[in-house]
This record gives sequence, C-alpha cells and structure tokens, in this order.
Amino acid sequence: MTIRPATLDDLEAMRRVCLLTGDSGQDATGRWSSDGLLPDVYLEPYVRYPAALGWVVQEGGHVAGYVVGVADTDDFANWWRQSWVPEFVGRHGDTSSRDDEMWLFDGGTRPELMLRLVAATGYPAHLHIDLLPEAQGRGLGRELLRTFGEELVVRDVAGVHLGVGEDNVGAAAFYRRLGFDEPAPGVMSSPSARLARS
Ligand SMILES: CC(C)(COP(=O)(O)OP(=O)(O)OC[C@H]1O[C@@H](n2cnc3c(N)ncnc32)[C@H](O)[C@@H]1OP(=O)(O)O)[C@@H](O)C(=O)NCCC(=O)NCCS
Repeated sequence: MTIRPATLDDLEAMRRVCLLTGDSGQDATGRWSSDGLLPDVYLEPYVRYPAALGWVVQEGGHVAGYVVGVADTDDFANWWRQSWVPEFVGRHGDTSSRDDEMWLFDGGTRPELMLRLVAATGYPAHLHIDLLPEAQGRGLGRELLRTFGEELVVRDVAGVHLGVGEDNVGAAAFYRRLGFDEPAPGVMSSPSARLARS
C-alpha cells in the first residue's frame, strides 16, 4: 500500500470508495435515489476544486481509500456556489421527491451550510476520509490524516474540522484516538499541529 497525491484520474475509483463506505462506514449502494448523490456531495467537488487537498491509498493497481479536504472552507464554499451547484443541479435537479434525502440536496446546493462548522470550531479547514474494508485497521487512516495535517502546518492553517454521523461510532472512536476534540455532538476538530504529530 502506498499513499500518494490524488489526481483527477483517480476520480472514478474514489467515487466508488465513497459509495462503498458511505452509509455510516457501510456500503451505501442503493440507499439513495441515485448512487451518484453521495459522491457528488462528499467526493467529486473535493477533487475538482482547484485548491483541493487529497491523497489516495493505492494497492497494486487500485485505489483503496482517500482523504480529501480543503484548507479554506470559506473559499471552497464560494467556488462550490459558482462552479459546483450548477453541475450538481444539472445531474440531480435542485430538489428531491424524498424527504429522507433532502439533506443531500441541501449539501449539493447550499454550500453556505459548510460555514456553520467553521463558526462552531474556529478552524477553516475540513476533510473527509474513507477506506475500503480491506484497507481498514492497518494504520492507513492515521497515516492519511498525518499527511493531511502536515500539509496544513506547511500552509500555516490553524486546524481542521469534520462532521461524523451519530451512527458512525467506529469513525468517532478513530478520531478520538487521534486526539480530535468534540466541541459539539457530531462535530470533531483538531489543531493542525496535533494532527501532524498523530
Ligand atoms: C474510520 C477510518 C477512516 C479509520 O481508518 P483506519 O485505517 O481503519 O484506522 P487506523 O488503523 O489508522 O487506526 C488508528 C487508531 O484508531 C483506532 N481505531 C480505528 N478504528 C477504530 C474503531 N472502529 N474503534 C475504535 N478504535 C478505532 C485504532 O485502534 C488505532 O489506534 P492505535 O493506533 O492506538 O492502535 C476507516 O475505518 C474508514 O474509512 N471507515 C469507513 C468509512 C468511514 O466511516 N469514514 C469516516 C466518515 S466520518
């Protein structure tokens, strides 16, 4: 297994990882009206954003996991509004007939919602991390987040935040183990320097 920077050529493989881990860590295939919804909110914009930060875990010829994120969520939200909302709406429309997936459409069309966690934590960066089951429990999550944290330190970014679903107890335990604080339920954050040392 090697860790290397993500590129646009990794996009399809990364979308697959996102879907296969997207239901509180379990396979989300068939969970929503389109299997494209989750990666169109939580993965693809993070690869297409010009200032994206991303690394993949590669095993042999295939991508087994990734961390993606941004150093400046405010700038990312502006880019999302101008560039990604039209793309998202072109793929999915601007609303759903299903009440239970409106939060995903809000995620795709209302990037200002991301700013709530910046305000809650005081940290401008955020990230998403996902590993296929065969890549879990081998220290790769820790290694990916250390890599991400080191880059934030280089860029003089104070810290990073993320959201974790209340059902994803394994991921929350992982973040706690790496030293993340939990300033509010479902919100985790860490100073960059602590993450870089984790
Ligand atoms: C959560 C995830 C990123 C963790 O990555 P990982 O490579 O499995 O974790 P690591 O092997 O690097 O573990 C690092 C530390 O966290 C601990 N840890 C990891 N998963 C844990 C779990 N489910 N419960 C308790 N501790 C856990 C490990 O024991 C380890 O501690 P140690 O180094 O002191 O022994 C990975 O399991 C994953 O992608 N899960 C599915 C997708 C997902 O839920 N993503 C997060 C969405 S918010």
